[in-house]
Amino acid sequence: MGAIYTLYVAGERLTFLTDADDFHHFFQSANVDFQKAVQDPVQNIASVSEESFFQFHTKVHDMVKGRLASSRLVYFHDDLCQEFDKEIDEIVSIKGACNLHQVVRQSMYKAVINNLFGPGVLPTTDMTKFKNLEKNFVLFDELFEYGARLPSFMIRDWTSSKWQLVGMFKDLYKGIKNKKRTENETVLQTLLNLVDDKHAPNYALLFLWASLANAVPITFWCLVFILSDQTVLSKLKRELVSTLGTLEKGKVRITEEQIKEMPYLRWCVLEAIRLRPVGIITRRVIKAFKVKEMVIPEGDMLMLSPYWAHRNPKYFTASEEFRPDRWKDADLEKNLFLDGFVAFGGGRYQCPGRWYAQMEIQMYVALFLHKVDCTVLSDHVPSPSTKHLVGTQQPAEPFLVDLTLKQPS
Ligand code: HEM
Repeated sequence: MGAIYTLYVAGERLTFLTDADDFHHFFQSANVDFQKAVQDPVQNIASVSEESFFQFHTKVHDMVKGRLASSRLVYFHDDLCQEFDKEIDEIVSIKGACNLHQVVRQSMYKAVINNLFGPGVLPTTDMTKFKNLEKNFVLFDELFEYGARLPSFMIRDWTSSKWQLVGMFKDLYKGIKNKKRTENETVLQTLLNLVDDKHAPNYALLFLWASLANAVPITFWCLVFILSDQTVLSKLKRELVSTLGTLEKGKVRITEEQIKEMPYLRWCVLEAIRLRPVGIITRRVIKAFKVKEMVIPEGDMLMLSPYWAHRNPKYFTASEEFRPDRWKDADLEKNLFLDGFVAFGGGRYQCPGRWYAQMEIQMYVALFLHKVDCTVLSDHVPSPSTKHLVGTQQPAEPFLVDLTLKQPS
């Protein structure tokens, strides 16, 4: 196959761009359109009507982008740290030997939901209700790609989970919408006030998915890569101790400044994102145009795979290896990633949660390694499951660890 190739899948032409020199067409060209690529899947997945989608999509995007801009992370930082600290304590004190993916999932879901949707707004305190939320979300996420394409009678369990999640937001809707609006309202409250009443719970479900589906598994992968490489682990632990000091009794608080003082932590996180980005992003071709010598006709779905782009040896030497030090060359002070890195997409509708995502992963990884003694029981890094294309890959098998809370010195 060449640098550009087309697959015919279920009556649709999918044209893949694989040469990074052509990616600007995908992100910048006026001949391609983000909204026209995602509207149909959004309708199938969350039952947001076409009319509502085109009326509100840009507003929702810009609101999330504004609320989660890097300059505004300060409003989320301390609460999120407290939530992570509490959840890690709770889960590790009862776990012992366990599957790391489940530990990360359970503790991050609760903390991030409380942080973005408001403490206790979704059922995170009642264990039975939370387990139900978790079960529905995991199923919704696992069959997400099927939901985008298949009629609901073929995926009954998925459909049931979807409507239970929408129902959960419906139950909350009136109470939140009628709440007095303030400057520091939650992202959920702003979202529900922005869109039409009929679809507000459905948009909330989409936002829930976007906020958890990639960041949580990538946090898991980040810990796995670090714990599986003694050199990386020791180097990161040295950085943690020199920035945070030794573990003391009581709550651990990591400030924004301390996070900034740990470049190696950030490199580890970016390297995990590089190795486990989403499988596919798409744009609709709205006017035929040429890439290299090939004409891409109107109506095609243009496809780009961050997963494969990050395995291009021209940009990433030893591309399959977890090498945090490669990020030394990125100008992160200016928020510039490495050339060839496209994990957050690009152009007008680039991931609006990217700064929050990096912050939360850095914070979770730092707290986990600072507070928890972790013995790895599995003898290899799990391979990524091939199930997910739209979202990031989940592990195909468990990664077993034995966890205990460290005793303060
Ligand atoms: C490391 C974690 C994450 C990765 C790798 C990631 C990646 C992406 C990608 C590739 C896109 C599509 C962009 C495009 O096509 O150009 C996207 C969209 C989006 N992301 Fe993220 N994301 C992450 C975390 C988050 C978080 C934590 C949030 C919210 C808290 C979030 C919110 C969104 C939203 C709302 C969209 C849809 C934008 C739209 O429809 O206009 N993401 N993300």
